[in-house]
Amino acid sequence: MNEHIAVQSNVMLSMHNVSYSYDGASQKALKQVSAGFQSGKVTAVIGKSGAGKSTFLSLISGLDLPTEGNIYLRGEDLSLRNRDDYRAQDIGVIFQSFNLLTNVSAVQNIVLSMFISKSTVKNKKEYGYQLLEQMGISRETAGRKVLKLSGGEQQRVGIARALAHNPSIIIADEPTGNLDQETEEDILRILTRLAHEENRCVIIVTHSQKVTSIADVVFQMKQGILSPFQQGESKQKSRVARRYRHE
Ligand SMILES: Nc1ncnc2c1ncn2[C@@H]1O[C@H](COP(=O)(O)OP(=O)(O)OP(=O)(O)O)[C@@H](O)[C@H]1O
Ligand SMILES: [Mg+2]
Repeated sequence: MNEHIAVQSNVMLSMHNVSYSYDGASQKALKQVSAGFQSGKVTAVIGKSGAGKSTFLSLISGLDLPTEGNIYLRGEDLSLRNRDDYRAQDIGVIFQSFNLLTNVSAVQNIVLSMFISKSTVKNKKEYGYQLLEQMGISRETAGRKVLKLSGGEQQRVGIARALAHNPSIIIADEPTGNLDQETEEDILRILTRLAHEENRCVIIVTHSQKVTSIADVVFQMKQGILSPFQQGESKQKSRVARRYRHE
């Protein structure tokens, strides 16, 4: 693999000359992407509509394979891994529209997800309550149908579900896109904690300025090309990021 990427400290996931073409498309959706994503950091990826962000997410989350190039998890080539196992063990995904089962309770969402990922935890319901509590969801709220929870509460449940199999990588697709500003800040505080205190690799695709301002690393996707985003180092970024770290 690319030595430049390999020598970066704490690299959890790395892409080496990754390209992707959809069947029949004249243009590549991803072009020679090489980048490393570190544990203990929040990485944001920004880019216009059609830039290739969803394509990027589907490759790093193991939904699809690159047409060219390789993706490595802690140096191990993903194409050699069983991708269902990869998704069930190493990756937790958080969605803009939460993607929860709305007609069952919050805790049931966690329990069902644990069954699907073949969790060996004995008391799944109790574990679910504990995970939800860590996300600020009380037992009373956890017992309510998702339908009866606010957007912010639903996203907390979404995060708890993503954490149920203790993944080292959290992938979030516009996780605050459907939330008001205050709730966005709460959710970002949680995602920052997952990186900074629990040493997970958190990757967020976003249009939100607030997300990029708290991210440790910001990449920009432009017509399938991924490159570091320089403006991420503004004074505003460090001020906001400090606030998040100390709260
Ligand atoms: N199934 C598909 N078949 C053919 N081309 C596709 C397919 N899905 C996406 N594309 C093309 O690949 C490119 C990248 O699309 P992608 O969905 O990754 O963009 P995006 O950055 O996620 O955009 P958005 O912000 O609108 O979600 C676009 O040119 C798109 O038209
Ligand atoms: Mg998209």
